[in-house]
Amino acid sequence: MAHVFISGIAVLDFVYHLDRFPTGGNKFRARDASVVGGGCAANAAVAVVRLGGRADLAARVGRDQVGDLILAELRAEGVTLDYVDRDEAARSSFSSIYVSRDGERQIVNFRDATLTGPPHFHDFPDRCDIALADTRWIAGARQTIRLARARDIPVVIDAEAPVRLEDIAEATHIAFSRAGLKAVTNTNDMASALRQVAAACSAWVCVTDGAAGVCFMEGDTVKTIPALAVKAVDTLGAGDVWHGAFALRLAEGADEVEAMRFANTAAALKCTQPGGRAGSPDRTAVNRLIGTLPV
Ligand SMILES: Nc1ncnc2c1ncn2[C@@H]1O[C@H](COP(=O)(O)OP(=O)(O)OP(=O)(O)O)[C@@H](O)[C@H]1O
Ligand SMILES: [Mg+2]
Repeated sequence: MAHVFISGIAVLDFVYHLDRFPTGGNKFRARDASVVGGGCAANAAVAVVRLGGRADLAARVGRDQVGDLILAELRAEGVTLDYVDRDEAARSSFSSIYVSRDGERQIVNFRDATLTGPPHFHDFPDRCDIALADTRWIAGARQTIRLARARDIPVVIDAEAPVRLEDIAEATHIAFSRAGLKAVTNTNDMASALRQVAAACSAWVCVTDGAAGVCFMEGDTVKTIPALAVKAVDTLGAGDVWHGAFALRLAEGADEVEAMRFANTAAALKCTQPGGRAGSPDRTAVNRLIGTLPV
């Protein structure tokens, strides 16, 4: 079983399904609602476990009721929590998420800045095949890159805005979101932005672009692997599932192209299910769908 060490944020999401996004000082009634754990790193950790890997999550939550809920759900999912820190003085993070009928979402966060201070972890588990870090906890990501390079294992960055290239340039793999790539290059043209980043660091780079799939550099050429055409009902956490699946497949020995195809399939399946990461697929579902795709 491949082991993935994942640093970043773990939060609680209050998810509301609405016909229309809220505007102005009005009252809105949800069609449906749920309370589900979220956060890039925590979602990726759940995705890794459901896909058959081991996930060690390094995150910090408060010693409060929200923190209890966050950790109880992750424990029930089978995520290893030895590297989770509980901060007496901090409040755990939570968000309200509005999901429209076509699966798009609007998010309001509460974050206690002390949660994303200096990292509490100074080593990796004995067995660890790959590391993954989100940029929501940038001090954690820097530490994860340092530790992975010292251990000589690959380290994948889920580069969401805001992010600076100097903080992540030493990673072996950087998978940007569209906004993350724009944050470091200040350009909307994804192909030239990817080239700019590839020229400025030695990492393998790609950018995920929602229903358009993923673009990556192969030599000097920018290539695209399209997303799977699915009926999306909830894209919340699709990027996190993508990053967890990508890192896991690399750890299992796949090359980047195969890992991206696997990640696209896992993320597309997530989009077909409601409930944020509750809709994260298992390995059987991903393998079955990949088996139906043209090579
Ligand atoms: N509507 C969709 N249909 C099919 N696949 C999708 C869709 N939306 C996302 N995906 C898949 O998920 C991947 C990641 O999505 P996206 O680029 O939106 O991540 P993100 O911007 O990091 O968002 P988040 O982290 O908030 O989920 C895409 O590259 C694609 O493979
Ligand atoms: Mg993302």
